[in-house]
Amino acid sequence: MAKKVNLNIEIVAYNDISELSESDRNLLSLAEDATHRSYAPYSNFNVGAALLLENGEIISANNQENAAYPSGMCAERNAIYYAGATYPNEKILTIAIAARKGEETSFIPISPCGSCRQAMLEYEVKQDQPIRLIMKGHKEIFELHSISDLLPFKFTQKDLFE
Ligand code: THU
Repeated sequence: MAKKVNLNIEIVAYNDISELSESDRNLLSLAEDATHRSYAPYSNFNVGAALLLENGEIISANNQENAAYPSGMCAERNAIYYAGATYPNEKILTIAIAARKGEETSFIPISPCGSCRQAMLEYEVKQDQPIRLIMKGHKEIFELHSISDLLPFKFTQKDLFE
């Protein structure tokens, strides 16, 4: 008999940035800073990501666009690929994401695109340890315990080899 299955995800919603730890606040602020170095002349949508590694190192990156639109790359993937390329054996603890539409301070909530979710998931599976995600909204800040929560019905290396 067919049955309905619910896949639940849990998030933590903070009402104010002051409720976050100093480390998380710092990471979000670095993600916001990174939006100011983004190259987004086509969309004017500036995204920043900051990623904390187990060794304490922080990597930040942003979206880089291209006149041939699909050749551009999102902030999250630029950050995580740089981490993978530079510190291949260092675990990623947390990723903070911020976005801005045009003006200096108009930060808007953002949730990573599908391709970035898949790319981040790869590193979570590789390191066999959850990567926390922090996203800043207009009123609330959302924290997810793991990237896997963004992709509850996920495709990973296990599906290829089992
Ligand atoms: N973008 C990101 O950097 N991250 C996302 O998760 C969503 C979209 C970028 C890609 C493109 O440069 C611009 O935002 C508009 O889609």
